[in-house]
Amino acid sequence: MELNNKNVSTHTHTHTLYKGDCLEIMKDIPDGSVDLVVTDPPYGIDLKPQRENGKFKNTKVKNDDNLKWLPIFTEELYRITKNVACVFCGWQNIDKFKMEFEKRFIVKNILIWNKDWFGMGNNYRPNYELILLLCKTNVKTKSNNKSNILTYRRKSPQKMTHSCEKPVILLEDLITELSNENDTILDTFMGTGSCGEATIRNNRKFIGIELDDTYFEIAKNRIEDTYNELNNTETI
Ligand SMILES: C[S@@+](CC[C@H](N)C(=O)[O-])C[C@H]1O[C@@H](n2cnc3c(N)ncnc32)[C@H](O)[C@@H]1O
Repeated sequence: MELNNKNVSTHTHTHTLYKGDCLEIMKDIPDGSVDLVVTDPPYGIDLKPQRENGKFKNTKVKNDDNLKWLPIFTEELYRITKNVACVFCGWQNIDKFKMEFEKRFIVKNILIWNKDWFGMGNNYRPNYELILLLCKTNVKTKSNNKSNILTYRRKSPQKMTHSCEKPVILLEDLITELSNENDTILDTFMGTGSCGEATIRNNRKFIGIELDDTYFEIAKNRIEDTYNELNNTETI
């Protein structure tokens, strides 16, 4: 894919990483050029993490205090996606996400990620997040009898570098069910690069965008480490 390389921070034959605002950077991605989008945006809930060990206390996710980005994002997402997109969401704003996406996409399903591990809280402690499965025409999973509940234990807070980090195995499930080898997968809100790791471990090409300098560096190192690990293995 030919990309305008303004803002490109890293480019190899497996991954292209951009540091910046995805609403701007998506404008440079050609129409219908992305085979699958898997992304985990800020949920618009002004999350104030209170993790067990206090590690993420006082950390905030950029743009988590508003959903002003959602309409422009939806337009750009529709334009650049060939057919399918998976967008994570919390229960709090699922109505707003769904209504916005329905202006363009078919909302084919709302998957549940069962985290198999309670988060902090008092009553009905949080144990799931949602994934909107969007398409332009239809979606076909590779497996025949695929449940819409995906159960993968979340990483322990001690091992996480982002308060919203997703397990690679969950992202691998989405990517392998919904795309083919050598396809291009895009994550517009890359965080620590878990989707990038899942993508290149499964022989797909990755485009990642992240606004925050610190998370961008974490993602870049993680994806490069994965790339080097896989390349070394291949040459042994
Ligand atoms: C929920 S987190 C993603 C976490 C990621 N799934 C992981 O496993 O590490 C959302 C990320 O989007 C980033 N972000 C917020 N607004 C953005 C924007 N306009 N463009 C690009 N990244 C943005 C935040 O800095 C944050 O790291």
